[in-house]
Amino acid sequence: MTTSSQHPPALGTENPKPPTPTPAEVEDMTLDQRARLAGDLDDVDVVHNQRKWPIPGTRAEKRAERAVAMWFAISALSGLAFLVAFVAWPFEYVAPGEPGYLTYTLYTPVVGGTFGLSVLAIGIGVISYIKKFFPDEVSVQQRHDGASDDVARLTVTAQLVKAGKDTDIARRKLIVRAAGGAAGVLGLGLGVAAVAPLVRDPWKGGDNAALWVTPWKPVNGETVYLRRDTGDPHEISLVRPEDQAPGSMETVFPFRESDRDNEEALIRSLRASDAPVMLIRLRPDERVVHRNGQENFNYGDYYAFSKICSHLGCPTSLYESQTNRILCPCHQSQFLATEYARPVFGPATRPLAQLPITVNDEGYLVAASDFAEPVGPAFWERRYNP
Ligand code: FES
Repeated sequence: MTTSSQHPPALGTENPKPPTPTPAEVEDMTLDQRARLAGDLDDVDVVHNQRKWPIPGTRAEKRAERAVAMWFAISALSGLAFLVAFVAWPFEYVAPGEPGYLTYTLYTPVVGGTFGLSVLAIGIGVISYIKKFFPDEVSVQQRHDGASDDVARLTVTAQLVKAGKDTDIARRKLIVRAAGGAAGVLGLGLGVAAVAPLVRDPWKGGDNAALWVTPWKPVNGETVYLRRDTGDPHEISLVRPEDQAPGSMETVFPFRESDRDNEEALIRSLRASDAPVMLIRLRPDERVVHRNGQENFNYGDYYAFSKICSHLGCPTSLYESQTNRILCPCHQSQFLATEYARPVFGPATRPLAQLPITVNDEGYLVAASDFAEPVGPAFWERRYNP
């Protein structure tokens, strides 16, 4: 007679692990066997498992199905609305007071709102499906260290498939169709957003497309003056060569006489992202290197460079007069003002665009023409016409 069976098992050996089957044996198992094995291998002990809807087809179950499907349907509809708004809603700038201003201002809220609602509704649909159809289960799992072995990886798939099967997803056609529609429309919307530049034509307007011209472009031969921003768009402070001390810089914007009483036009030329220009007066006797084709872009010691960094478009507002370097604070690119603002440090690879300037009969600094190249970061079709 032995007495060992009367003693409690040693701590940690209450549920000895079953022998691990080989991958070939796992291949021959049914889905349920694999799912059970996955739990055993992971030391998962299912204490309680009860189906949510043990009697299929009750009115309460149908109601729950409709509630879940409704969220997927909302997601599909808002995804569709996002798609239509993204492609068809007028997005081009309209000034306040002009026809179409309200529609233009609603572009971002409509696109963002419909996209957000679509993602939110699909998330709520998934969560409510889990809450309403996954079995109520209480499991206890022992903690393991290290990675899972091959058999564990093979069986975990079965566990996931079985979890789906336990919710009777196969016979819940309404939910499957609604979820498929929502995911499809949302995926389509994201696809369209990714290829949107191919759907919209950035070159509408030909040579006057927004990427080619800036507010410095003279229209009908009208003079474009250099002005300061004093904080009041109606206070026109024009710039004369004698205003600035050698070795200094100030920011200037375009001004046309025809805009003098037009508040909207005045504000627009002060706020346009491609308008700000650094007017730099070099110290006398600086050794200057001109860019080919731009030998007459300066006026005496005055040089005008776009403030928009050629790297990623930040304002390059810092001018260090001792070294003649212009610094962009975003990623520390440096440009040499005495050498056509070519980059000498940092990630920028192209010079800042130089504005050709001169002085008119009244003694004011004016733009001789628009920039010879697009200001700011590069883009695929960029060209240079000195
Ligand atoms: S934007 Fe100027 S350095 Fe990056």
